[in-house]
Parts: sequence; C-alpha cells; structure tokens
Amino acid sequence: MPTRPKVSIIGAGTVGTAAAHWIASLELADVVLTDIIEGLPQGKALDILQAGPIAGFDVRLAGSNDYAATADSDVVIVTAGIARKPGMTREQLIDTNAGIVRAVVAEVVRASPRAILLMLTNPLDAMTYLAYRVAGLPRARVIGQSGALDSTRFRTFLAMELGLSVEDVHGLVIGAHTDKDMVPLPRLATVRGIPVSHFLSQERLDAVVARTRRGGAEITELMKASGFTAAGAALCEMVEAILKDKKRVIPTCVYLEGEYGERDVCVGVPAVLGAGGLERIIEIPLDASEQAAFAASVAAVREMLPALKL
Ligand code: APR
Repeated sequence: MPTRPKVSIIGAGTVGTAAAHWIASLELADVVLTDIIEGLPQGKALDILQAGPIAGFDVRLAGSNDYAATADSDVVIVTAGIARKPGMTREQLIDTNAGIVRAVVAEVVRASPRAILLMLTNPLDAMTYLAYRVAGLPRARVIGQSGALDSTRFRTFLAMELGLSVEDVHGLVIGAHTDKDMVPLPRLATVRGIPVSHFLSQERLDAVVARTRRGGAEITELMKASGFTAAGAALCEMVEAILKDKKRVIPTCVYLEGEYGERDVCVGVPAVLGAGGLERIIEIPLDASEQAAFAASVAAVREMLPALKL
C-alpha cells in the first residue's frame, strides 16, 4: 500500500498555517506543523483539522515543538523567522533570520535527509542561498518560493485590469523577491496565448507592473501585517508540483550554476518542478531592458550575501 506523502512546515505562523490549510484541503499529504512556541502548532493543526468534516478533506495533521515529529518528510517548508513589519525592508530582516535558518536547516536535514527543502523566510533569495550552502544537499533539493507568489499577484492585477478571468491570464516574475528588484515580464504575459499588449496600452501595463512590485507592501500597509493566504497558496502550488511530479513551470528561487550568465547565487528563474524538486531551469532570451533589470536584481542579492558570514 503506498503511504501518503509527508510535508513538514517549520514555523506555524501566518504563512505556514495558510500553507498547511491549502495542502490539507487538497489532500496532498499528511502535514506536520512545528514552531518554537509551545502549543501554537498543536492548536493551529487542530483548528485546521476541525474544518475537515465540513470541507471534506481527510489527512493527518499534527502540531509539534519537536523535530522528531518531522522525521522522513518528503518536503519541508521553512517559514521560521520574524516577519516584516510596516516600513521595514526585507533586507533588514537578514541578521535575525539568518541565525534562525541556519539552526532550522541543520535540524531539518538531520530529521529528513531525503527531503526537498522549500524556503519561504525572507530575505528569500539570501535565505535560500544560505540554506543551500549549509544543507549539503544537491541544488535540486533546496529551492525557494518567490516567483510563484509574485506571479500570482501579477496575474491577479492583470486580470483585474483586463476584466478577464484569472484562469486565462498568464505571466511570470523572475529575479529577486523584493519590491525594487523583482522582474515582472509583461512582454511574455498572455491571455490564453494572446499577448497582453493586444489589450493594454504600455501605460496601463506599466501601472500593473508597478502594482505587482508593491503587491506585498500594499497589503502590509492596509492591514499592518504581512499577507499570508496567497503566499500559502504559492507554497502549496510548488508542493503539489513536486508531490504529483507534474513538471510545472513555476518561477522559483534556485542556485544558479551559469544559467542566465550567473553562478554562485540564488535568484528567481523559470523552473520545472517535479518529483526531483528542481528538474530544469528554463533559460529564456531576455531583451536588453529585461536583462539589465535581471542583472541589477542579481547584484542586489549578491550585496546581501556577505552578511550571511558563510
Ligand atoms: N524554529 C521554528 N519556528 C520558529 C523559529 C525557529 N527557530 N523562529 C521563529 N519561528 C516561528 C515563529 O514563532 C512564528 O510562529 O516562525 C513563525 C513565523 O511566523 P510569522 O511571524 O507569522 O511570519 P509569517 O508572516 O508567517 O512569515 C513567515 O516569511 O515574510 C517572511 O521573514 C518572514 O520569516 C517570515 C516568514
């Protein structure tokens, strides 16, 4: 009898809990939520489980403060860290979160040596790089969520501007996971294969790109806390691609070894996700302005790396 896959989530905060909820509701895996705060992951797990009889999902979902409960996970999502407060940049988080990520990754690898690590802690690109460097795993198994969220925001805003279904609107965002340095690619965005430029003027497209860049900040300013539902859904999309070996094309933060002319850095690029984690990087030709934006984005990530003290 095949057993159900196991996903552990380190950090039972808002994003970790949202991811657990989405994963459980799609019955993708048994889920273990962990946190350093006693009682928090246990309570969150029970709360989600009690929606099961109504929503019609049936998986094992447990909370724990102990890594033993995460043993032999197929995928481990790392959201542990402190969240960005209004007015705070993701970069300012680096010191605190680097310490947390180092400690968490060591425990995760010990408990689940076969797992694929999916990073969420910010600053995302630097934390994914740190995790890759300290985990001692192949790059295919240490990836970060950035473009999945930025792209769903891009698609949402495009669909709102177009007055068309989000289901038919596609677009991707590559580069670093910061307001300034993400690289939305409107040139490649389509409505069911029709370029969005057929529908929208350059001015309106520029406005959508600007709103996408501030997608996280807009929410934080409104509700005085970071968003979490879409971030959880983005993690779930990546987990599903891996557990179902779907070969989905999802912009993902990965360790580059010469792709896009860059090496020894983690940043968002179009990637194929399947059972092996990162299965392929898709190198698309960028035009001159996209290439310049991507290079600036990588440079911004590189600036953060010395602070990791590797
Ligand atoms: N081990 C396990 N859990 C930890 C650890 C640790 N060493 N350190 C912190 N945590 C937990 C916190 O107790 C908290 O419950 O991580 C959780 C983070 O949750 P939130 O503060 O709600 O943050 P969230 O909005 O979910 O964001 C998750 O994404 O935006 C980034 O940097 C941000 O690290 C944050 C992450």
